[in-house]
Amino acid sequence: MQHLVDTNNFSDKQIQNLLQDAETFKAQCPPKLLRDKLLITLFFEASTRTRSSFEVAAKRLGAAVVHLDPSRSSTKKGESLEDTFANLCAMEPDGVIIRHSENDTPKILADMEVTPVINAGAGNYAHPTQALLDLFTMVEHFGDVKGKTIAIVGDIVSSRVASSGIRLLTRMGMNVVLVAPQPFMPQSNLPQYENLEDVIDKVDVIMSLRAQLERHASPIFDDYDEYAKHYCIDKDRIGDRDILVLHPGPVMRNIDISDGMLEDPRCKVLEQVKNGVYMRMAILKLLLLDS
Ligand code: CP
Repeated sequence: MQHLVDTNNFSDKQIQNLLQDAETFKAQCPPKLLRDKLLITLFFEASTRTRSSFEVAAKRLGAAVVHLDPSRSSTKKGESLEDTFANLCAMEPDGVIIRHSENDTPKILADMEVTPVINAGAGNYAHPTQALLDLFTMVEHFGDVKGKTIAIVGDIVSSRVASSGIRLLTRMGMNVVLVAPQPFMPQSNLPQYENLEDVIDKVDVIMSLRAQLERHASPIFDDYDEYAKHYCIDKDRIGDRDILVLHPGPVMRNIDISDGMLEDPRCKVLEQVKNGVYMRMAILKLLLLDS
């Protein structure tokens, strides 16, 4: 039984197959490969993109999807997460897709070895399907990402997208540099910059990240307009450089990325969302059909 807790669950060959399958699915609507399969989604944190993207991906492949809304579930009556999961597994799904605020939750459930567990975002530890769809978006643009340089900009320390992305993209041979004010910078051996201007001429990709106010125990900045003056990705900052601009969403407009930059063809935010469906189709095929 294979799980997706983070991308290190997949071999290099499996990642290449995922990229190939996602490309194939994008070019041509695939057959209903998962016609007899049933997935359960369990999102303990809010989601627009990931939850709906998994549902669209599953349905495009013919699978049925059941959502459990934790705010209306028996976890509210004190049932443990493990018991909730065991009860859902007693209904014999073909996989459970989970998002949770705790870093370890997907691994704890995966270790029960009852059904394939797919991590749809856990704490600040991992968001593997986002990392894989980001890789797909860059491979689609560049062909080969090896040797390309990506600057991750913003609230890196709070970001599971950054955590998974750093692990996957360095493994794929990319140069990753971190750009953030000191309170948003994680402990890392990667090159670190406080100012994007100091590295912008060396980067091929900028991945902007949202300031995750909900994960800060107390406000880090009084004024996010002041933060935006230094870190918002806008046309003045990028100029005419040939840089791909990514963001996992949700975007805080004019704090993370300006309105104008969001309309610029170099900005691939909605392409990432589109690609997310195809990459998740590929991931479901791999985990549920072992192919
Ligand atoms: N990128 C991402 O995880 O978005 P959602 O929180 O809307 O799922």
